[in-house]
Amino acid sequence: MRIILLGAPGAGKGTQAQFLMAKFGIPQISTGDMLRAAIKAGTELGKQAKAVMDAGQLVSDELIIGLVKERVTQDDCKAGFLLDGFPRTIPQADAMKENGIDVDYVIEFDVPDEVIVERMSGRRVHAGSGRVYHIVYNPPKEQGKDDETGDELLVRPDDEEATVRKRLSIYHEQTKPLVNYYQAEAKAGACAYITIDGTQAVEKVNALLDEKLS
Ligand code: AP5
Ligand code: ZN
Repeated sequence: MRIILLGAPGAGKGTQAQFLMAKFGIPQISTGDMLRAAIKAGTELGKQAKAVMDAGQLVSDELIIGLVKERVTQDDCKAGFLLDGFPRTIPQADAMKENGIDVDYVIEFDVPDEVIVERMSGRRVHAGSGRVYHIVYNPPKEQGKDDETGDELLVRPDDEEATVRKRLSIYHEQTKPLVNYYQAEAKAGACAYITIDGTQAVEKVNALLDEKLS
């Protein structure tokens, strides 16, 4: 099973990826998490990406395409994968096609901007695993600690309101066109396209996905 999760920053891609990974036994490929890991490790890629990410801008298509192309050929992707945060520009989607990387489902999470700004202010993340929490809507069992490891949870540097608004404007400009792109692909029979109302509670969104993907 190969799935693309499409949606604005904060729409719930990472949150629902945890559920879908368990349901289908496939890995999450989050380009954002990969870039954050590179920053933490101090690699050349991380050095290039840090300022761009902190400003809420997109990293170059070339760099990201190279990263994903390599990742999807790894052994754990044989039974499929979950793309979270990729593609997010038309050239990235075209590169997938050119490289013969097909998908079964494109799932769009629809959430208005104002809901997103509020969500991001309460987000806490576990850097090692990609697990995501919210202080009110999806709290950890113990305040400030990851449920599985007990590690300290962090606030992402790009979750400051001004940066979130910048990321949203880039989403509307560069990523939203992928909605029409993949709806057209679905009409041509290349994949199935599902839109989910992402404003509902986390468990409700889980249930909707479970129903639509069974
Ligand atoms: P990335 O890490 O991909 O960030 P993003 O797309 O902006 O998405 P987020 O991770 O912010 O949101 P999400 O949809 O995963 O929401 P989440 O589940 O966490 O990318 C970061 C940066 O990397 C980019 O800005 C760019 O610079 C670079 N980059 C990455 N990929 C790239 C690419 N392909 N090309 C170029 N550059 C790239 O949820 C958010 C919060 O809401 C959480 O607190 C969560 O608990 C809560 N929540 C989730 N669902 C619900 C719900 N249903 N109800 C209430 N609260 C909820
Ligand atoms: Zn995410």
